[in-house]
Amino acid sequence: MTNDSDGTTPPGVDWDAQAAVFDDEPDHGLRDAGVRRAWARRLSSWLPARPGDVLDAGCGTGSLSLLAAEQGHRVTGVDRSPAMVERARAKLAGRDAVFLTGDAAAPPVGQQRFDAVLVRHVLWTLPDPGRALRHWRELLRPGGRLVLVEGVWGTVAPVGIPADRLTALLTPLAGRVRVERLSDDASLWGREVDDERYAVVAEPA
Ligand SMILES: C[S@@+](CC[C@H](N)C(=O)[O-])C[C@H]1O[C@@H](n2cnc3c(N)ncnc32)[C@H](O)[C@@H]1O
Repeated sequence: MTNDSDGTTPPGVDWDAQAAVFDDEPDHGLRDAGVRRAWARRLSSWLPARPGDVLDAGCGTGSLSLLAAEQGHRVTGVDRSPAMVERARAKLAGRDAVFLTGDAAAPPVGQQRFDAVLVRHVLWTLPDPGRALRHWRELLRPGGRLVLVEGVWGTVAPVGIPADRLTALLTPLAGRVRVERLSDDASLWGREVDDERYAVVAEPA
């Protein structure tokens, strides 16, 4: 089920079935050079300046994983959908990247720790976002950060998580929380948008 022209999909969707068409959306596949450049620029400002280990939780087809890898980071991607994981593996073939099938809320990464946990358009679909945030925080190395890209999509029957709810969930976890509004930047979406879209960079104290 698709919510609107963003291809944003509510919980219960068959992500395996979506995998083949997922990259058709400009901000998913990043096929347009301008859209790709816009995401690359934002991502490099959100991720640590030095190359590090990035966990892409709910990585989908790996579009942001690829940008992170191109910026020198080692990427571990986790997605529940085997079809998404297969596409991510193909997209990052030959890169310093590993993709695992598993739950984004409890990634199967053992004792590995990360300099950044990157999550785009996934948190709002999870049954217990607060619990997922607490777990991701535990997966960070000292000095690590959470990079969360979320929003509220659609106007008739909006879905998603508003920035103020997400920052409230982060309050007990993060020392520094920066919210960046993304709605005004059409180059990220390939068109003008008027709903709420944002990124949060949260650095636990
Ligand atoms: C809207 S897509 C976003 C994909 C990617 N983060 C991106 O921004 O291009 C949501 C992805 O989250 C995955 N997903 C949803 N719930 C999940 C869960 N509990 N564990 C792992 N992956 C999940 C889906 O399979 C899908 O690939």
